[in-house]
Formats: sequence, C-alpha cells, structure tokens
Amino acid sequence: MMSAMACSEPRLAVKQSLTPSELDDVGALVREARWNQLAADWRIFIEFGRLYAIHSDAGRIIATTATLPYGGRFAWISMVLVAGEYRRRGLATALLRRAMADLAAATLVPVLDATPDGRAVYRRLGFEDSWGFQRLIRRERQHAAASVAAPAGVTVRPIFDSDWPALCAYDTAAFGADRSAVLAGLRGRLPAAELVAARADRIVGFLLGRDGGLAAQIGPLIADDDTIAGALVARALDRVEGPLFVDLADSKRELRSVLDARGFTAARPFTRMLCGSSARFDDAARTFAVVGPEFG
Ligand SMILES: CC(C)(COP(=O)(O)OP(=O)(O)OC[C@H]1O[C@@H](n2cnc3c(N)ncnc32)[C@H](O)[C@@H]1OP(=O)(O)O)[C@@H](O)C(=O)NCCC(=O)NCCS
Repeated sequence: MMSAMACSEPRLAVKQSLTPSELDDVGALVREARWNQLAADWRIFIEFGRLYAIHSDAGRIIATTATLPYGGRFAWISMVLVAGEYRRRGLATALLRRAMADLAAATLVPVLDATPDGRAVYRRLGFEDSWGFQRLIRRERQHAAASVAAPAGVTVRPIFDSDWPALCAYDTAAFGADRSAVLAGLRGRLPAAELVAARADRIVGFLLGRDGGLAAQIGPLIADDDTIAGALVARALDRVEGPLFVDLADSKRELRSVLDARGFTAARPFTRMLCGSSARFDDAARTFAVVGPEFG
C-alpha cells in the first residue's frame, strides 16, 4: 500500500539533536545500507554541520542527508540514505535540493563521494565526476607480512598532543580546507592507527582511524610520498586486530600492492563528485586514503 508520503510534500526537518529513538532510526538506515557509521559519527554532523531528515507519518526518520562546511570554500554532502520501502519517490532528491540550496546561499561548492546508486541521483542534479577510490576490506590481521621501512631520516611514531597544530596545518594544505574539527572527532577512536611521520621536526605524513559498526576504518592517510604512506599503513596494520576498511585513491597503485599483500580485497567503488565542476580542491599527490565517503 502506498503511504501518503508518495503524494504529499515530504516533511523535511533540520535536526539540532537526535533523541535516542531517532538515533535508533538513523542506525537502522545505516544497517540497512550495510554502512559503518556509529552514533559518534552522527554527532559530528550535528555539532559541526547540518543534518536534514524526513519523518514518516508515524514520526520515524526514513531519510537523511548531512552537510559539513569545510573552510569557506566547499562543503561535504553525505549520509544520503532512504529506507528501502520509501525509495524511488523523490526523497533523496528533495533532501539534496534543500541541502544544495542552503550551500548555494552560503557560497560553498557541494562535494561528495558517490556509491554507484547515488551517482545516478547526483548526476541529475549537476554533479560531475572528479576522481575515484576503492573501499578495500581486510577480514583479519595477517601475521606474516613483510615490514615496510620508512625512508632514511623519517620516523613513524604515535601522535603526541604537541603534534596536533602542525598536523592540522599539514592536513589543511593537502585537503584544501581546514577540517580540524572532524579530525579531532576521530581522535581516540582507534588509537593504534594514530600515527605521524616526521623528518626532523617537520610532519611528512599522518594516519588516523576510527571504530565502526562493521569494521574499523583507517584514514585519512596523507603523506609526502608512497614510501612514507606505506610505512604508516604497515605500522597500523601490525597493531589493529579484526576487520578493517580503507578507502584508497585509485591512483595509488604502489600502496594498493602493499595492501593486497596484507589480505585486502576490493569491496565497492566510490566516485568523488563536485557540483558543476570536476576540478578537485585537494592535493592528489598527498591524498592516499580519504577519511571516508561521509567526511571526505
Ligand atoms: C541512492 C538512494 C539514496 C536514492 O534515494 P531515492 O529517494 O530512491 O532517490 P530518488 O527517488 O530521489 O531518485 C531520483 C532519481 O535518481 C535515479 N535513481 C535513484 N536510485 C537509483 C538506482 N538505485 N539506480 C538507478 N537510478 C537511480 C533515478 O533516475 C531516480 O528517478 P526516477 O525514480 O524518477 O527514475 C537510495 O537508493 C539509498 O538509500 N541507497 C542506499 C544508500 C546509498 O547508496 N546512498 C547514496 C550514497 S552516495
């Protein structure tokens, strides 16, 4: 039976907070899509961005979209989720149109990472393909993998609080905008993957990670070159148990071989898209793994 939702305007709300029952609703959307986000991730959107939701007549959240402003230049759109029984009724399009109108008013360029399903929706709204990455999965830690040495003069070690300002500045230069609030939201969620590479006192790479509903995830992985990226990742892989995701840029073939040798396999492709443009804001050379499609 068709709900009234199919023929009436969807009830779209901007959420300033999520009640426990609304957290259950958005958690159910994540699980249905077999995504990985936890309550800690939704809190980042509420605190630093904007979360749009559509409620059913019964008051449940049945569709979401989130935006995160990054500096004064662009903003991420993510968490475009519609409950299975409400799909193909224009809900994702309605949420995206509203989010895009708000970003246009703030003169921020919308950027997102599309699944193959989402890409069909976004292309109709004026998004263009920029570059691609793969979600790679490791089911279990491999014990016999060869180590990857850092280049001479480069030390790979845990992140100290005193590294944080320089690390955020390094990230801003590579990402194209300040996302230190989001990076701070990841700290402490996967301590074994919190690593920095330094040459003398200068940061030349870093890695963060986080826990997730299906697997832990490592990223962002930002580094000056392949060897430094490989040394950071290998150190983390030796320390993190259990299933693990990494969203690796398609262009980073050398690191892909390191990950393949450690038991990673490709799970799904993503396309980074920008509204009205294909020109990226970030530094392709230093971007090895993204935080994830929800954060950029
Ligand atoms: C992708 C998703 C958000 C689309 O939500 P939706 O509310 O069904 O989308 P809309 O009704 O606004 O679709 C608008 C148009 O996009 C295209 N489209 C939507 N879903 C599509 C799909 N699975 N395959 C191909 N085209 C699709 C169609 O052209 C559709 O118009 P039509 O129904 O008139 O043919 C939903 O399928 C979903 O939650 N999927 C799982 C999570 C996901 O992949 N999210 C996207 C992350 S980038």
